[in-house]
Amino acid sequence: DKGTYPFYMLKEVDEQPAVMRKLVQEYLDEDGRPTIEAGLLNEMKKADRLYIIGAGTSYHAGLVGARMFERLTKIPTQVFISSEFAYEQPIMSEKPFFIFLTQSGETADSREVLVNIKKQGWPSLTITNVPKSTLSREASYTLLLHAGPEIAVASTKAYTAQVALQAILAKALGMTCDQQAATEFDLKQQLGIVAVGMQALVDGKEKLESIASRYLSEPRNAFYIGRGIDWSVALESALKLKEISYVQAEGFASGELKHGTIALIEEHTPVIGIITQDRTAGLTRSNLQEVVSRGASVLTIAAKHLAQPDDTIVLPDVDPLLTPLLSVVPAQLLAYYTSLGKGLDVDKPRNLAKSVTVQ
Ligand code: F6R
Repeated sequence: DKGTYPFYMLKEVDEQPAVMRKLVQEYLDEDGRPTIEAGLLNEMKKADRLYIIGAGTSYHAGLVGARMFERLTKIPTQVFISSEFAYEQPIMSEKPFFIFLTQSGETADSREVLVNIKKQGWPSLTITNVPKSTLSREASYTLLLHAGPEIAVASTKAYTAQVALQAILAKALGMTCDQQAATEFDLKQQLGIVAVGMQALVDGKEKLESIASRYLSEPRNAFYIGRGIDWSVALESALKLKEISYVQAEGFASGELKHGTIALIEEHTPVIGIITQDRTAGLTRSNLQEVVSRGASVLTIAAKHLAQPDDTIVLPDVDPLLTPLLSVVPAQLLAYYTSLGKGLDVDKPRNLAKSVTVQ
């Protein structure tokens, strides 16, 4: 039931702080130690490489997760689009472990991969929102997202739940592998900061409504740019915008724009920069300067400690691995209000279904 909300999507965006708290409660104990089953962690510890498989938004969550696994466990991690991996398996490592990310647990493209890798005898984990779903039943292990039913076709709270749960799993596995970075990562405290920060962002949603109407209601195309983990969020942000508002949006690695795509920048083309990482903030800012001088309407989503006076949205500071949990929220809201402003059916965009059970 969507209660007083006009659309499920807005309700689900608003639920994200509660989902973060729920994950802390489900997967971290009083002292912040992960409570993930030892059987799963010991199996994962044997792996020489992690393979994360997903489609759409779940693939984008995997791009963030891979950075977390590599940083906290030191196990090399690769992310694949399920429909690609299914028909072009790369040269595999000796001891692969597969992580399937799927909100619905029913995505045919992802299931195709699971069926194939099971035949090859490899172990797997499904991270899903739906208990007893097909991919949950067929994988060796399951972790549940506990995000509550997601009704809107555009995935929001499942994405942030996937990112947060991968952080918890990466910490747990890192601790199992005696990695100091994992032991020292105070995820319980950081996810608390995230929940409070998300709440502030959703409470400030009116600002995003006016930005959407001013900058995104007319243009036919838009760009999100960022580097590293911000690029991963740029991909997800662009997908949200295109699928519900029908603005053709691309997520770009900031440094790549000048290698071709900058030709598309015209007067008033919206370019939204995501700036949360110390090492790359200055570089992304200079890439934004390049598009400003070609007439683009530049908006910025910046972490507080890197913020400048005319940034559009300022995010509370959090551990650099967890910034996607905050930077994606304004992007979700921009997509929502652009769609709403155009009078579209936000929850049921054309040509799309909530779970895609054909390949
Ligand atoms: C986008 C969206 C889709 C799904 C994709 C995978 O907002 O919802 O891109 O993320 O179809 O679905 P699941 O996660 O159910 O496997």
